[in-house]
Amino acid sequence: MTTQTGNDKDGVIIFDTTLRDGEQCPGATMTHEEKLEVAELLDEMGVDVIEAGFPIASEGDFAAVNEIAKRAKNAVICGLSRASPKDIDRCAEAIKPAQRSRIHTFISTSPVHMQFKLQKAPHEVLEMVTAQVTRARGHTDNVEWSAEDATRTEHDFLCRCVEAAIRAGATTINLPDTVGYITPEEYFTLFLMVMNRVPNASTVRFSTHCHNDLGLAVANSLAGVRAGARQIECTINGIGERAGNAALEEIVMAMKVRNDVLPYLTAIRSTMLTRASKLVSAVTSFPVQYNKAIVGRNAFAHESGIHQDGMLKHTQTYEIMTPESVGAKQSSLVMGKHSGRHAFVKKLEELGYKLGDNQLEDAFVRFKALADKKKHIYDEDIAALVDQEIAHAHDRIKMLSLTVIAGTMGPQTATLSLDIDGKHSTAQTVGNGPVDAIFKAIQELVPHEAKLELYQVHAVTEGLDAQAEVTVRLSNENCTVSAKGADPDTLVASAKAYIGALNRLLARSVRVVHSTEPPEVK
Ligand code: KIV
Ligand code: ZN
Repeated sequence: MTTQTGNDKDGVIIFDTTLRDGEQCPGATMTHEEKLEVAELLDEMGVDVIEAGFPIASEGDFAAVNEIAKRAKNAVICGLSRASPKDIDRCAEAIKPAQRSRIHTFISTSPVHMQFKLQKAPHEVLEMVTAQVTRARGHTDNVEWSAEDATRTEHDFLCRCVEAAIRAGATTINLPDTVGYITPEEYFTLFLMVMNRVPNASTVRFSTHCHNDLGLAVANSLAGVRAGARQIECTINGIGERAGNAALEEIVMAMKVRNDVLPYLTAIRSTMLTRASKLVSAVTSFPVQYNKAIVGRNAFAHESGIHQDGMLKHTQTYEIMTPESVGAKQSSLVMGKHSGRHAFVKKLEELGYKLGDNQLEDAFVRFKALADKKKHIYDEDIAALVDQEIAHAHDRIKMLSLTVIAGTMGPQTATLSLDIDGKHSTAQTVGNGPVDAIFKAIQELVPHEAKLELYQVHAVTEGLDAQAEVTVRLSNENCTVSAKGADPDTLVASAKAYIGALNRLLARSVRVVHSTEPPEVK
């Protein structure tokens, strides 16, 4: 299938914006290396277009888009830009090294956005459409134009803007449901209206971009495709602004499983969907809802007696797709303390991980330590361990040891030693409970003003010796970040999660940190 060329009737381009719309939502920040890792996986999974970031937004965004552009093997690498020449030129510079690249430029077209956000009259916006697409076409012949808030835009004006964008050379026209307001029937009609009214509409590819404020993002995207759109913009796990974007895995599997009524093709290797979901969840520390379609941990679990009985007789009684088709496996009892390095490496391969030598060594040491504490090691335990290894490979603050006095006698005391940029320090603090004592010790060693927004504990697997997985969300005046920590000891997991979040804040911090002082996390 040649989804890139735009002529095929049934091929739908999958445009992934996990690294742009997904990353821009509160708490989902990724480090540079994490972005590269996600991009590599998306490329291998068959995503047609990777929107790698918003190059003018920061030096970090520029560097990530630029590096992804250098490394991508198959996907078109796309950068986002507003309507200003400076934005567009910066975007062009970032995507330059890519074998195939695209500039995505947008402007708001709805009355409310034009009046209050842009403070521009419609005729000024119309002129900017022509100017922005012309400028982008000066850099590349692959230009996407988006009418931000298209679904609340007055129809005549939307058609005039789309016509101007096509005349100026746009090759993809995107009609985003920016605020997640439209319903499937209306979105279907909107595409038909624009395609029928705008001259030369058949020469470009139309695209959907749906937000999930009413839980309709996937249904709306599919309605757009039924009307003739042949590109869907979506994100892994549906992450994105507010309630998120249309979830890539749901769109891909809906078209695959119900190809009888949605006869469209994508180039996505669906067996990589679970891996992609886990990676994005690990690097953003956004947990995947248990009952999330396709990739939630209950998506293929059958608990009730009637369902289990049916499944044993025939899997199709309660399963419309196999777990294998999305790369999910039934939890299997895998390894224990007698498993060696060879078995560990094989298991990692089976779970889809590729680690460098140093990372592998560290992960193996941690696996052995876990196997000493926990009798049964499940696939999920290994995944949690390796995800942490990947997520924390570049951390500046590392935990060396933690001793906690807890229980009825008190006082609850934590003694914590950290390695901060290679320097070891220890603090002993008393708290209102053991977790409070630990967090106070961290505060003493790494003074900061970040606020604790969320502290959440889950079990990775079942059983009394299950690993605890703790999520911590911190925020300062610049950003919000989350991190997870897993360990059979909930208190150790709590410390890991808090330290992980601080490391993320540090990675995002623009401040220069003096090497002999503790890092400053405002
Ligand atoms: O939701 C939206 O309108 C966007 C545009 C920038 C495409 O993300
Ligand atoms: Zn969006």
